[in-house]
This record gives sequence, C-alpha cells and structure tokens, in this order.
Amino acid sequence: MWIIANWKSNKNIAEALDWVSKVGPQIPKADNLKVVVCPSFSALSEVKKAITVGNFPIMVGSQDLSPFGTGAYTGEEPALLLKDLISVSILGHSERRKNFSETDEMVVKKTEQAIQNNILPLVCVQNEETPVPQNCKLVAYEPIFAIGTGNPDTPENNNRVAGILKGKYGQDLEVLCGGSVNSENIKACIDQQNIAGALIGNASLDAEEFVKICQTIGEKM
Ligand code: PGA
Repeated sequence: MWIIANWKSNKNIAEALDWVSKVGPQIPKADNLKVVVCPSFSALSEVKKAITVGNFPIMVGSQDLSPFGTGAYTGEEPALLLKDLISVSILGHSERRKNFSETDEMVVKKTEQAIQNNILPLVCVQNEETPVPQNCKLVAYEPIFAIGTGNPDTPENNNRVAGILKGKYGQDLEVLCGGSVNSENIKACIDQQNIAGALIGNASLDAEEFVKICQTIGEKM
C-alpha cells in the first residue's frame, strides 16, 4: 500500500526538516506500507539527508523531472541528476498540465527518462481516458474537481476508474486515489479492491495529520 505526500510548492528547508523529524519516528512498521514524500526541488537534498540519518522508512520523490537528459536545458532537472536523491517521481499532475502546458507526449518522455534512470514514475491521470505511458506501473487517479476542493470522488467511483485502468493497461498496474484525501476519508478509499494507496496534497503538509493517515493504513495491514 502506497501513501505519497505531494507538498506542491510549499515548505522551505526548515519547515521540511521539521516535518521529517516529526513524521519519521511515527511511521508504523508494516511490511507493505510504502511511504513517499515529494518536497520542492529546493528541499530535496536536505530531506533526503535527514531521512537517511534518521533511518526513517520514507522514500523521497520529486514532483516532476525533465523530459530531456543532461545538457543545455536551462531550468530543468534531469532524471540522471535526480536519481541520487529520489526513487519516485510524480509526472503529469493536472496542475502541470494546466499551468505549464504539459502534454501527454511530454509525460511519455518524462516517464522514459525516469525508467532509464531507475526512478519509479507515478503518472497522474485525470480520468479513465488519460493515456498511461508504456511501462508505467503506478498511476494516481485524481479528477480535477477533487483536487484541493475538499470534495473527493466517491470510493466506489475511484474503484470503478481503477478497474477500467487495470483492464486497459494490465492487472499489475497499481492505482492510487487522490484529490482531497485526508485522515477521515482515507480508510473508505483504500478499502476498495482496486486501490493501492493514495496521493495526498493538502493533508500531507501537516505532520500530525499525515501520521494519522499512515497509522490508519498501517492498522489495516
Ligand atoms: P489535495 O491534492 O490532496 O490537496 O487535493 C492532491 C494532489 O493534487 O496530488
């Protein structure tokens, strides 16, 4: 079961380290619980260091990566350079598609870069029609109406869409739910048969709330 924190453009280094020091020691020890935190690029290396030093069961992820390799691509963060810091990368988030004109073709290139560099791509799909790039085995279903609105999709619809995606791309595709997931509604969401965890924005920023979410999942396992 995956539980992935997407901090978006939030938390400076001090705030990020404070979160790690509070959350790290409280992650329940459960074999199949995979916790990932995705900070801003500016906090990545300090977060990675703090998690390593504390020996906390948390993986580090990025919220994006370059569709290109290393070279003359000003402002971009290529997978080849990120791979020392991260093991997962969120790709094709609807906020990137909307605000940065990210296309399905770019998401394919980013996915290829991630895979070539042993980074697990987590591709966000907005509905069952969003294409999932080849060899991508982890997706998050996040309908736009549910993101940051306090209005999550129903557990049943999460399950239905996840079932369609698994039917299209293979039963080994893991599907997360996302959009306004918090400690109150996480249980109903992950109790669904086709759901392999959650991608969490707002509710991941608060250390206490995020620990509650992890504990709820830990109890279920
Ligand atoms: P939210 O964001 O939990 O704040 O709705 C989720 C996401 O956009 O990944």
